[in-house]
Amino acid sequence: MKVIVTGASGMVGRAQVAYCSDRGDDVAAFDHKTLDISNASQVADAFQKEKPDVVFNCAAWTDVDSCEADPERAKAANTIGPEELANACRSGNALLVTISTDFVFDGTKDGFYTQRDQPNPQSVYALTKLKGERRAQNAWARTIVVRTGYIFGTGGNNFLSTMIPRAHRGERLKVINDMFGTPTYANDLVKRLYQLAQLDLPGIYHVVNDGPGASFAEFAQAALSEARLDPSSVTAVSLDSLQRAAERPRNSRLKCILSAAVGLDPLPDWKHALRAFVNALPKEAVIAR
Ligand SMILES: NC(=O)c1ccc[n+]([C@@H]2O[C@H](COP(=O)([O-])OP(=O)(O)OC[C@H]3O[C@@H](n4cnc5c(N)ncnc54)[C@H](OP(=O)(O)O)[C@@H]3O)[C@@H](O)[C@H]2O)c1
Repeated sequence: MKVIVTGASGMVGRAQVAYCSDRGDDVAAFDHKTLDISNASQVADAFQKEKPDVVFNCAAWTDVDSCEADPERAKAANTIGPEELANACRSGNALLVTISTDFVFDGTKDGFYTQRDQPNPQSVYALTKLKGERRAQNAWARTIVVRTGYIFGTGGNNFLSTMIPRAHRGERLKVINDMFGTPTYANDLVKRLYQLAQLDLPGIYHVVNDGPGASFAEFAQAALSEARLDPSSVTAVSLDSLQRAAERPRNSRLKCILSAAVGLDPLPDWKHALRAFVNALPKEAVIAR
């Protein structure tokens, strides 16, 4: 299968490239420098050259607070980009799998958000991502939107791989304890994106690791315990105390009401996935950073 991965140097992008390559696919991996997904002519050139069967869009501007100050850049990466990819997929009859976010919800619901819940984005990042979902779906029928959240994995700007080395150095860590999500291991996510591509059933899917979800503080403490570090180095703080530029949903735990219906088993529990992630971290990386 000929595959394009965009955002290939990001946390999910690099896992997607590795997974598809391991499966023996012919992978064209584009990072931001080699393909700006908001640039129609760059997208057209890439598609003409590569003629993909499937496109995994892992590119986005994910700096949630900075998006508030530069909505045009957020729109380009998170709204126009998926739409341009969908237009190019339509021209070449390729399947588009594009990633969205749990932040499309406002966080006021008790319990899990499913596809029956109405999005109500509260930040520029979240709004531009929701518009990206919709524009991509409007532009091309063979679009699969995958909402996910609280991703952990290697590379990119990622909460756990910076937290573990900091705890190792004896730093005290401030972590939010009143914001809840469903942690998702990048390696499990990309495997599921691939399965969804094989099924080729358009729609919106929620893809997260199984389990009841966690606050950032619980998530960090579990990671430190797995890494045999002292979980008490985490100081719990409230979301409000950090005074960040962007609003965040206090609860964005996701459940999928479609996956079982299309024959997909739940992903492993997030604590099992966390163990796999910590065990895969190179020892020197944990100590050196
Ligand atoms: N991380 C999470 O917890 C989380 C949660 C929910 C959803 N998601 C979604 O998951 C997907 C993957 O996120 P991630 O965590 O892997 O993010 P990431 O590590 O920040 O990777 C995103 C990549 O996209 C690239 N990019 C930005 N603008 C681009 C553009 N206009 N054209 C092409 N590439 C561009 C970035 O390159 P530069 O850095 O060089 O600009 C970066 O390498 C995104 O759709 C994100 O919204 C992530």
